[in-house]
Amino acid sequence: MAMGMGMGSARRLRCASPACLLLAFLLAMPGLTAGLTRRYTFNVTMATVTRLCTTKSIPTVNGRFPGPRITVREGDRLVVSVHNNINNNVTFHWHGVRQLRSAWADGPAYITQCPMRPGQSYVYNFRIVGQRGTLWWHAHFSWLRATLHGPLVILPPRGVPYPFPKPYREVPLMLGEWFNADPEAVIKQALQTGGGPNVSDAYTFNGFPGPTYNCSGGGNSTFKLKVKPGRTYMLRLINAALNDELFFAVANHTLTVVQADASYVKPFAATTLVISPGQTMDVLLTAATNPSSTAFAIAVAPYTNTVGTFDNTTATAVLEYTPQRPAALRGLPAPPLPRYNDTGAVTNFSSNFRSLASARYPARVPLSVDRSFFFAVGLGADPCQSPVNGTCQGPNNTRFAASINNVSFVMPKTSLLQAHYQRRVVPLAFNTSVEVVLQDTSIQGAESHPLHLHGYDFHVVGTGFGNYDAANDTAKYNLVDPVQRNTISVPTAGWVAIRFVANNPGVWIMHCHLDVHLSWGLSMAWLVNDGPLPNQKLPPPPSDIPTC
Ligand code: C2O
Repeated sequence: MAMGMGMGSARRLRCASPACLLLAFLLAMPGLTAGLTRRYTFNVTMATVTRLCTTKSIPTVNGRFPGPRITVREGDRLVVSVHNNINNNVTFHWHGVRQLRSAWADGPAYITQCPMRPGQSYVYNFRIVGQRGTLWWHAHFSWLRATLHGPLVILPPRGVPYPFPKPYREVPLMLGEWFNADPEAVIKQALQTGGGPNVSDAYTFNGFPGPTYNCSGGGNSTFKLKVKPGRTYMLRLINAALNDELFFAVANHTLTVVQADASYVKPFAATTLVISPGQTMDVLLTAATNPSSTAFAIAVAPYTNTVGTFDNTTATAVLEYTPQRPAALRGLPAPPLPRYNDTGAVTNFSSNFRSLASARYPARVPLSVDRSFFFAVGLGADPCQSPVNGTCQGPNNTRFAASINNVSFVMPKTSLLQAHYQRRVVPLAFNTSVEVVLQDTSIQGAESHPLHLHGYDFHVVGTGFGNYDAANDTAKYNLVDPVQRNTISVPTAGWVAIRFVANNPGVWIMHCHLDVHLSWGLSMAWLVNDGPLPNQKLPPPPSDIPTC
């Protein structure tokens, strides 16, 4: 992994004249800093990995699982040269990055680009503007993100402090799912049979299942967070699991949430967190000055209301004050976690999120709406037709499907963004103020859906259970300090209302971040047209963009 520095930072200006001072001031504004150019190389290769006594060859970036951490500062340009050396198509997505006028670098296969075929390369080149905190990168083709993922850490511009005391250490903590089988074979089989996919065998912390599983838990299969008494640590949590929302807790320790999806929030304390696939959360943990034990368990377990099967296991990592022998790891008491279907616990936690809404980080919530949309999202079933491409092992001899307004999205065969650029798709006007109400349906059982929007952060202005009622619910919206996110869970048998201004031209996929639902079609795309000004237009595609 190579990292080079581009142009020097304009912050080093020594000012004498008023014009220079003005320039220095403008450069210090969030999002306007010139930044550096940071270069990374991603070689996608197969590598042999052993977990739970299963040794297999998995797709990796640079042979690492999880993949390498990318670190940038707000205002930097990030240039990632990807070379596909595996026997599979692949693309990469920079989850949560706004991609202002750089939609060609967003990455979802067949939406903004055709995949890189085996042997092909593509350079993702974009700036990080007006965002700081934790995001992540992952493959955006089929279920390859199961092993192709890593943290994307965005530090504030040099000299700009966090709006909370600087932690002693910062530690990315990726939560994932391990399959003893090949995840590509798992989803292929499910789409063939029409039934639900086989579930994962373990949850993981930075790739390690830990000591609660059979044939796991030695010193080198457990993630350890070494801490010093009295110090404060910032955990950069990322839920990279394919199909499971997760509860998260650390025995005997309270956590303070300070950031979500690379936006600051008003800090709040919690003992149990809930984090959905796609979401990120920065939390502060202060190590005890006189800990009651030399180590404590960190645990994750699923939250779900699915009618299907799911991986109902608990994984643990270790908060280590003094080095532990492997045998001692098994004996650590796990922190209490809510029951897997405890929607009340989820609501209690989620209702705490408020954006910081400070002078430096204001909440720019659209107060008026140009276009409102109501989308019913949920699981359904398609009738068993013959001839059918596969069998019908879903409920009552059907095939599982997932939809928005009862339409399952079928991935097109050429990239939608290329189609849009060639004026073949109907555009949505630039700068439209959009409200979307996402309503969970219960055709095949109600369950929550973590909806992710590419290319935007949206404001979560309202949420509730039951059916959305415009007459009463709009009045209760929070238009003052709603949390800003890129992924929000539509509550089980409930709704959520989001707002954003369509000021970033491109084609932007919005989908459920449970990969099984994405595979079943819970996906749609927004098409945001160019604005009138030169800096409101999408530049032409890079010359190396893969062709279909
Ligand atoms: Cu994190 Cu469309 O993805």
